[in-house]
Amino acid sequence: PFGRTDGARGLRFAPVAPNTTDAVTVPDGYTQNVVIRWGEPILRGAPAFDPDKQSAKAQAGQFGYNNDFLSLLPLPGEHGRQVLVANHEYTDEILMFKGYDPAKPTREQVETAWAAHGLSVVVVQEERKSGKLTPVPRHHLNRRLHTTSEFRLTGPAAGSDLLKTSADPTGTKVLGTLNNCAGGTTPWGTTLHGEENFNQYYANGSSATDKRYGISTGATERKWELFDKRFDVKQEPNEPHRQGWVVELDPYDPDSTPRKHTALGRFKHEAAQPRLTADGRPVVYMGDDERFDYFYKFVSSKRMKKGTSRAAREHNLTLLDEGTLYVAKITGDSPAAEIDGTGKLPTDGEFDGSGQWIPLATGDVSHVPGMTAEEVYVFTRLAGDKVGATKMDRPEDVEPSPRTGRVYVALTNNTDRGKPGKAGADEANPRNLNKHGQVLELAEHWDDPASDGFAWRLFLVAGDPEDPATYFAGFPKDRVSPISCPDNVAFDPHGNLWLSTDGNQLGSHDGLFGVATRGERRGELKQFLTVPKGAETCGPIIQDRRVLVAVQHPGEIDGASVEKPASVWPDGPGRIVRPSVVAVYRKDGRDIGV
Ligand code: FEO
Ligand code: CA
Ligand code: CA
Ligand code: CA
Repeated sequence: PFGRTDGARGLRFAPVAPNTTDAVTVPDGYTQNVVIRWGEPILRGAPAFDPDKQSAKAQAGQFGYNNDFLSLLPLPGEHGRQVLVANHEYTDEILMFKGYDPAKPTREQVETAWAAHGLSVVVVQEERKSGKLTPVPRHHLNRRLHTTSEFRLTGPAAGSDLLKTSADPTGTKVLGTLNNCAGGTTPWGTTLHGEENFNQYYANGSSATDKRYGISTGATERKWELFDKRFDVKQEPNEPHRQGWVVELDPYDPDSTPRKHTALGRFKHEAAQPRLTADGRPVVYMGDDERFDYFYKFVSSKRMKKGTSRAAREHNLTLLDEGTLYVAKITGDSPAAEIDGTGKLPTDGEFDGSGQWIPLATGDVSHVPGMTAEEVYVFTRLAGDKVGATKMDRPEDVEPSPRTGRVYVALTNNTDRGKPGKAGADEANPRNLNKHGQVLELAEHWDDPASDGFAWRLFLVAGDPEDPATYFAGFPKDRVSPISCPDNVAFDPHGNLWLSTDGNQLGSHDGLFGVATRGERRGELKQFLTVPKGAETCGPIIQDRRVLVAVQHPGEIDGASVEKPASVWPDGPGRIVRPSVVAVYRKDGRDIGV
């Protein structure tokens, strides 16, 4: 496929060939700039980044580590500027601190890592001539939220006994957001942020629910429990119940306290992307990124108010507090005997079928026998277990097509599928020992997002196109790029789907791909960029003239450290490797892929 520049509108570029270059590699005719790096000062008073003089205080005013989800929002009245919101999923201490001793982290290192987690809001400016995007430090909207910032629990489980701790007898005031992976942008101008692998920060778990959420019974790798007792479950058994939510941030109000929405349930939230029903109620699709875990949606009972008045904004911030939480049960239409676990298509030629949204709770009313509504929200995984939801291959990011309403779910991989004692292949998860993942396309009945049923089909079964166990929506496989481990999904202004990957199992680096979802070229997948060694590609945003990606954990290779780096991106030899946001645009200034 390489060298061909034809394609669907928006995807007319020569695909980047798979490679292992320690760089962001873009198509011919395109160029790039680093928009912002880990450690760049964004708040007033924050010092310039100095890898040898890191401190919690400095980091709290600087761009955080391991950028993941990105959102760009308009900034009316400030010409050429937009508001960039970024997630900082986790820290890689061994790549951050010289001489880091994992057995004995210092308080300064631990508190610096706290400050490097969370969210950043930073206004960015387009340089009119070059198209370059650069940060505007000290803008009044710039903000950092991290492990010691205050958040508010809202919705039906807020104030529950299950959420109270010795520091917070109200069960509503939480310090910190952790492991913010992907997210979403709401039609009312706020951002949503999934709290994903929060389990890793808590030590000494003991209950059955701790176990279901993956909280270990021993010490943690980062040892934060030695520096703040809230990370020790033995001392604060309810503290982990206060992470694992979807956070909503109002980036236009720098004084606002972000909300954790209990109505959206608690699990390893990868992402949350809303769309509106015909009568203006938001529906949020959400994946729980774990092998054999579930796919969910929340249907609000309240309508969005249009406009940017204070009253409208305040009302809209409550939209995700009232409604019904559902989990997906997915059924194939081919005989089970035809799903042999190899990825071979069944005789009807497609992995497809129907689905059912099983209600779990509405407000204070539980629909799950034996569980109260509060329990459903706080221990949502157990509710999914009880109602027989479908065990998926790690549901990651999800995005409804703004053109067709069809919802695309990245199922990144599941190397445990079909192992002894584990669930075997089914039509939606058709490969055992699934290394490369698949993308599911879901169409709600009557195209109504609030529907209780849907049709589905696999859009992509990822891997090397020469591998017979791959599928690209029926498009000729000699004309597509190889892809492995789809993670984040986004749409471009033409209605093409873009996918970024995490954990490529084909021997080359992760990257970003575009694919048409409609017309004759449906399934024609093309690679747009690759990222440096050890990195994952995150947070893609595709605008008319620019593609933004978050290059997460560059240089994260076993045995690498500050002293022995595996990657020298983005600043070259002798400089510390830094997760960063990159903008890609065309040298001739024209739109992407036209
Ligand atoms: Fe943080 Fe599921 O990727
Ligand atoms: Ca992810
Ligand atoms: Ca079928
Ligand atoms: Ca991932």
